[in-house]
Amino acid sequence: MNKAVLNYGGVETELDVLTGTEGEKGIDIQKLRCRTGIVTLDEGYANTGSCTSAVTYLDGEKGILRYRGYPIEELAARSRFVEVAYLLMYGELPTSKQLNSFSGLLNNSSLIHEDMRHFFLAFPNYAHPMGLLTTMVASLATFYPVPEEMGDEEERQVIANLVSQVRTIAAFSYKKFIGEPAVYPSYRLRFVENFLNMMFSSPVSNYQQDPDVVKAIDTFLVLHADHEQNCSTSTVRMVGSSLANVYAVISSGIAALWGRRHGGANQEVIAMLASILESGDDGRRFIENAKRKEARLMGFGHRVYRTFDPRAVILKNLCHKLLSKPGVNNPLFDIALKIEEAALKDDYFLSRNLYPNVDFYSGLILKAANIPYDMFTVLFAIGRTPGWLAHWREMRRNENTRIARPRQIYVGPALRNYIPLDKRGAPQTSTTAMREREQSTAGSGRFTPRRLLPMPPGETNSLGENGSEFA
Ligand SMILES: CC(C)(COP(=O)(O)OP(=O)(O)OC[C@H]1O[C@@H](n2cnc3c(N)ncnc32)[C@H](O)[C@@H]1OP(=O)(O)O)[C@@H](O)C(=O)NCCC(=O)NCCS
Repeated sequence: MNKAVLNYGGVETELDVLTGTEGEKGIDIQKLRCRTGIVTLDEGYANTGSCTSAVTYLDGEKGILRYRGYPIEELAARSRFVEVAYLLMYGELPTSKQLNSFSGLLNNSSLIHEDMRHFFLAFPNYAHPMGLLTTMVASLATFYPVPEEMGDEEERQVIANLVSQVRTIAAFSYKKFIGEPAVYPSYRLRFVENFLNMMFSSPVSNYQQDPDVVKAIDTFLVLHADHEQNCSTSTVRMVGSSLANVYAVISSGIAALWGRRHGGANQEVIAMLASILESGDDGRRFIENAKRKEARLMGFGHRVYRTFDPRAVILKNLCHKLLSKPGVNNPLFDIALKIEEAALKDDYFLSRNLYPNVDFYSGLILKAANIPYDMFTVLFAIGRTPGWLAHWREMRRNENTRIARPRQIYVGPALRNYIPLDKRGAPQTSTTAMREREQSTAGSGRFTPRRLLPMPPGETNSLGENGSEFA
């Protein structure tokens, strides 16, 4: 069946039902308002498909995540982040020639304009790196003007600038934060090595790359590169639909990601594990508190994954590898494992489909790689930039794209009389009373301007008069 029938007020309206590649169904309501006069209401958009997209497929019930059709498990095991970025944005895995040329372009685009480096000086030392990243990415628009009509060549350059410079800005922000001089990107290093070098080398010490750390960060970036219509990606599409400058578009995605409900959760996991450790608990007491709703087990549960988060499985294995290296002792990881083991046997968590999500392990990986706490969300932003750009690019090419402009159901005050400044603060005519008056006088419920509204006995309006304010 490819039609759905809506029966409202005794009138039936047929609506098309679309079927996606994997059989998922969506009722097309684009003509709903013009045909019936009503709109849908879906706060948080949990039941709303905002677009069709060929970038990422996600099935939360089955724990499936695929980029352009490729399972995330395979991409994480076999591809580097730069390859995955190319795949997301251009739709196919690159040939070695395409990969070389893309990597070269990223390298050539990695420096930010030298004048921008001076901006960092003006921020306070305690500035959060996400604040710097949002601002600096938006300001790229002033240094690298984007033409009104962008051809493929210009688009390729803009994309390379963003993928590469978000990483440079992130590392410069950290250097600013710790009061060290910025380290420039190097043409000799690959994407992740380059980032780690900009973060951790200094004029007085060279950074020694550890291949396990490089692989862990690369995998982290791959796993965070896209997640279909999440909050920041939807923001990118929303802002992009106005044809805003692409740097401003990506900056808006970074701003959305900054929120604790979105990109900030892996920080919360580390804070939770540290507080459990500090309290002398091995995790069991905390679990009991979570079951009594006195605490929330951060890194557990997900709005869409209801059986397991495939990214968490990959990161758990990586975590084991990284944290079992000689000399590495991470008591937080031991607590995390105990919590996971206990929670996965507990009916409270099982009956609510609460499993570890990507953030449960990603914070531990970043911590083991010595990434500072405040940079966790920044790393997420570096990973997500190709995903945002893939959606922006897809939207640009879709001739059906319209400016995003949802409707609403208005529940505020009904029409009321303006109150002059010197009369404000006095008891107001209640909205309900006004509405009742409107209905009793206008009959149809519609307010008729300039009609004299008689005040109900004993009720005065803000002017202290009896309803003759329009006279
Ligand atoms: C991700 C999250 C926001 C999803 O929320 P949601 O789909 O709206 O789920 P709900 O908040 O409706 O929770 C459903 C039930 O599980 C409980 N629950 C959800 N997550 C829980 C958690 N992490 N710890 C303990 N209980 C939890 C809720 O209290 C609720 O219980 P109830 O049915 O007795 O009222 C939520 O699971 C959460 O806050 N997790 C921790 C934060 C986190 O890791 N975020 C990163 C997500 S990638």
